[in-house]
Amino acid sequence: MSQITKLSGLIILTMLLFAACGGSGEKNESEASAEKEEQKLTDFEMEHGIGPVDEEIEIGEIDPELAKEGMRVFDMKCGACHKLDSRYVGPPLGGIMNVRSPAYVMNLILNTDEMRAKHPVAKSVTTEYPTRMTNQQLTREKARAVVEYLAQESQ
Ligand code: HEC
Repeated sequence: MSQITKLSGLIILTMLLFAACGGSGEKNESEASAEKEEQKLTDFEMEHGIGPVDEEIEIGEIDPELAKEGMRVFDMKCGACHKLDSRYVGPPLGGIMNVRSPAYVMNLILNTDEMRAKHPVAKSVTTEYPTRMTNQQLTREKARAVVEYLAQESQ
C-alpha cells in the first residue's frame, strides 16, 4: 500500500469517527424525549410546532419593511389580547422570539386550536391564562410578517 493510500484511509476513518460521535444537541434531551413520547410529536414538531409551517424559518437581518407590515397586522389582529411588555389577555410577546422558534409562532398563529390541544408547550402556556387564543385567519405571508416584527422587538 502506498503512503498516499494509507493516509487517505486514515483520513476517511477519522471522518467516520467524527460523524459517529457528533451531533449531540443543546437542549435537555431526556426532557424533550419524555414529552415527545407522551405526545408522539416529532422532534421537528416539538421545536417548531404542528401546522402548515413544516420547515424551519430563518430570520436573518431584520427586513424593516416586512417588520412594519407585521406591526400593522399585529396591531389589528393581536393587539386586542397581547402587549409587548406586559401580561394582558394573553402573555407579553416582546421577547417571545428569544424563547420560541419562528416556525413555532407561525404554527400557533395559523393552527391555533390544534397547537393548543396537542403541543405540550402551548398546552402549558394555556393553563396559565383563563382566556383562549383564537385563530385570526391570517395568511401565511401575514403570519411571517408578524414574526419578523416580533423578532425585531425581541432583540
Ligand atoms: C382573543 C385574544 C387573543 C388574540 C386575538 C391573540 N392571542 Fe395570542 N394568546 C392569547 C392567550 C389567552 C394566550 C395564552 C393561552 C392560550 O394559548 O390560549 C395566547 C398565546 C400566544 C402565544 C404563546 C406565547 C408563549 O409563551 O408560547 C403567542 C406566540 C401568541 N399568543 C401570539 C399571538 C399573535 C401573533 C396573535 C395575532 C395574530 C395573537 N396571539 C392573537 C390570546 C390571544
